[in-house]
Amino acid sequence: MSIILNSPLDMHLHLRDGDMLKVVAPLSATSFSGAVIMPNLIPPITTKDELIAYRKRVIDASKDSAFTPYMTLFFKSTYSKEFLTQVKDEISAIKLYPAGITTNSDGGVSGFNIDELKDTLNSMSELNIPLAIHGETNGFVMDREAEFISIYEMLASNFPNLKIIMEHITTKESVALLDRYDNLYATITLHHLLITLDDVAGGMLQPHLFCKPIAKRVEDREALREVAFKGHPKVMFGSDSAPHPQHAKEASFCSAGVFTAPIALQLLTELFIENSNLDNLQKFISTNGQNIYNIKVPKKRVILEEKSFIVPKKYGDVVPIYAGEEIRYTIKEIK
Ligand code: NCD
Ligand code: ZN
Repeated sequence: MSIILNSPLDMHLHLRDGDMLKVVAPLSATSFSGAVIMPNLIPPITTKDELIAYRKRVIDASKDSAFTPYMTLFFKSTYSKEFLTQVKDEISAIKLYPAGITTNSDGGVSGFNIDELKDTLNSMSELNIPLAIHGETNGFVMDREAEFISIYEMLASNFPNLKIIMEHITTKESVALLDRYDNLYATITLHHLLITLDDVAGGMLQPHLFCKPIAKRVEDREALREVAFKGHPKVMFGSDSAPHPQHAKEASFCSAGVFTAPIALQLLTELFIENSNLDNLQKFISTNGQNIYNIKVPKKRVILEEKSFIVPKKYGDVVPIYAGEEIRYTIKEIK
């Protein structure tokens, strides 16, 4: 039996820059129709010129014309309405990072003082620019996302016309919040549907499963699975595929990020066939993202089949999730 996925989208992707970009961009561009590209380069993308130059590098590296990079800026509370008006047509969202919370986020927001944020957020509301948020406090690592709930609530209620995307949610509290505010949406990763903290640190430490936010408890994974498997219209697939070179992962200071992009569609197919159905996968992987972001996407048909596939040990210098292991589905053809 062949499985067809139409125009898959990855609504949260790290492609990096330079040599790494050249390795990872084609891996997403061949099988996805488009992706929301994260701005946490060194330095982060904060100007229109940097954004346009980065998009060109992404397109050059992608080597597939049927792939659209949906670009994002790194949030700064200093962005004026004039600046946002100029850059609006070039971006799909602005990504807000709490300062220092994850890879390359030092220039992010601290304190979440509404007086400091309100001018930029009001301008974004007026201009219809979505705000994508990495929602973690700097509290105890297992509680960071739950502690951020009050900040999501403060933002969602004070800026009711601002589309807010809770990025890579990992907890049952975040899932519950989704239906409480009309203007809240979420991305969910593949790895948070697959693993819990036990897989990361319950046995020998698995650096390639270490990411921010850290994988949580079984009941959190269940809550994520429930909304993803039913194709809930406010959730969409965002891989948060975050490549780091092998030496940065297999190190005493292990960088956060799981690399999933090249096998995401194969693993999502397996997961949805076992627990849901392909209609709901189509919503999760494309329809919901198109509706939430209000985008038109290049047509692409990805045809998969049930045929065992051994995950490569490395792509360039990056070790993927389940490296060397056998998975059940393979991409047969892309049209
Ligand atoms: C991401 C990265 O490496 O850029 N890391 C991660 O663990 N997810 C940043 C992020 O999205 O937090
Ligand atoms: Zn990310």
